[in-house]
Amino acid sequence: MKTIVVSNRKGGSAKTTTAVNLACELARIGSVLLIDLDTQAHASMGVGSCASLDNGAHSIFFGKTLSETFVPTVYEQLTLSPATEFFDVYDNGDLRGILRNRFYGERIHEFFDYVVIDTPPTFDALLKNALEVADAVVIPFVPHHLGVVAVGQMMRAIYQNASFNGQSTPNVGILPVMVNAHIPEHRDAIGKIKIQFGKEKLFTPIGIDVKLSNQFEGGNPIVNDEERSRGIKDYRRFVEELLTRL
Ligand SMILES: Nc1ncnc2c1ncn2[C@@H]1O[C@H](COP(=O)(O)OP(=O)(O)O)[C@@H](O)[C@H]1O
Ligand SMILES: [Mg+2]
Repeated sequence: MKTIVVSNRKGGSAKTTTAVNLACELARIGSVLLIDLDTQAHASMGVGSCASLDNGAHSIFFGKTLSETFVPTVYEQLTLSPATEFFDVYDNGDLRGILRNRFYGERIHEFFDYVVIDTPPTFDALLKNALEVADAVVIPFVPHHLGVVAVGQMMRAIYQNASFNGQSTPNVGILPVMVNAHIPEHRDAIGKIKIQFGKEKLFTPIGIDVKLSNQFEGGNPIVNDEERSRGIKDYRRFVEELLTRL
């Protein structure tokens, strides 16, 4: 089993879009668990579900097992652990290591080939729980100055968290999103990422495709039906590249 965390503390950087399309694409080749750790529940909506009031992924932080949060999706090989509406990370004491304990205790690796985790745009106990189980972290970023800054901040958060826990650093990849190659600023921002973090960390960019936004309206990820959309092609290529790095 490989666990892929999609993360960036910057909002609106296509974390959820990436997590949903990655999970659905992986479900074509294996059994997948999508964990929605962002209480906004956008990833849950993206696969045709919604937030749970008291039985979502976050309920592991008040004593439930991860398995009892599972709900099926319309995609046969994709299971969802939805977000828990109104869960407040600050109301719940020391949450360190809980997701990792659930993974081991419930032998999650026996049931899934891949776990994909969508995360909130904060560096809090939820993100730390996700990073503790990550084999790989994908950082999607919009190519402009603050996007580049946010990648650096996220990188430091990943390294700091791993060293605090005495863990090895997960395999980190950086995914430029909403890219228009004709815009010089986009090329510049991607160039800066290459120089700062190494070109081997970069994935081929995802272009702008309004269908990637519309898919959330119907809870029907485009990877499953819109064969001709640019978004699906870009995300398929991204997943192929990611699989060679896992
Ligand atoms: N490649 C893309 N082309 C066009 N719109 C996109 C693309 N990727 C994401 N979006 C849109 O950008 C917005 C932010 O994406 P989202 O995945 O919700 O980001 P985050 O989870 O990081 O906040 C959403 O409205 C989404 O539909
Ligand atoms: Mg999101």
